[in-house]
Amino acid sequence: MPLPPTVRWADHRLYLLDQTLLPHEVVEVEQHDVAQLVDSIQRLVVRGAPAIGVAGAYGVALAVRDGGDLHEQAALLAGARPTAVNLGWAVQRVVRRGERAVTAGEGLLAALEDEAAAVHREDQAQCEAIGRHGAPLVADGAGVLTHCNAGALATTGIGTALAPLYAAHEQGTPFQVFADETRPLLQGARLTAWELDRAGIDVEVVVDGAAAHLMARGEVGLVVVGADRVAANGDTANKIGTLGVALAAQRFVVPFYVACPSSTIDLATPDGGAITIEERAAAEVTGAAAPAGVGARNPAFDVTPHDLVTGFITDRGILRAPYGVSLAAG
Ligand code: MRU
Repeated sequence: MPLPPTVRWADHRLYLLDQTLLPHEVVEVEQHDVAQLVDSIQRLVVRGAPAIGVAGAYGVALAVRDGGDLHEQAALLAGARPTAVNLGWAVQRVVRRGERAVTAGEGLLAALEDEAAAVHREDQAQCEAIGRHGAPLVADGAGVLTHCNAGALATTGIGTALAPLYAAHEQGTPFQVFADETRPLLQGARLTAWELDRAGIDVEVVVDGAAAHLMARGEVGLVVVGADRVAANGDTANKIGTLGVALAAQRFVVPFYVACPSSTIDLATPDGGAITIEERAAAEVTGAAAPAGVGARNPAFDVTPHDLVTGFITDRGILRAPYGVSLAAG
């Protein structure tokens, strides 16, 4: 059975697959206004850099459908989560199309819907291209480790980090996936394991701390992760814990690839130090386990320095160092 769409726009209405309920319940929720959509993005009802970009793009149309101010509502959407560049990029792109439509005396809502649909289609095509370019990296019988969920659920297509795995599986390559559970919100255990298992791909969940151990034992031949923002020099923000995986991969000489669409590459951000890291509620970390009254730090992302990245699997092909040159050339 195909996965339900993460984001759906039909008859001027926006629907999201509620990922907070997965894998136990598959529920689509209509987003009635921008305030609800902002809340949904912040609660990770929709999540993953490309998927929040597409949701934000339709959100601009949603705002104008209900008579909202284009720029005011767009600013609310773009600010919903700070780290993934795709959100601000997609919202801005749709706003600019709206501005051109107004200048040309064209229908505003139709122009916004049209541009959002283009962002949506491009995301799907870019995922397919990432799959095509990345599939040859998956060797027969390889152990492949991934972190968080950069799969179909994080996009509107077949994913970024998981796209090469879907493509290799389709080509008949046998391999095994280790899905880091991804504390604290368990995107690996809940989402990556769910979507790969549904696709018939051999997947096992491991606690985040097991990744280095499996590499030390020679059980991992390839690491592929997604990205929320890639700076001009190749420094890469992704889900918290990615940096530890990259360091272990370097130590045990395992290729570490970042898969991302062009929309995640942010040439305006010079390096990882300039990337805003979202800090989330302490309660996500302390949960029921920590003693009452003890606080927690909860950075949702970390930055992997570019020299730990073996290559970027993008829709334009595999980009290699020096990243300052190869990322800009695309
Ligand atoms: O907090 P999330 O679940 O939105 O974080 C998602 C990730 O870190 C993904 O790896 C990244 O957005 C790439 S998704 C193709």
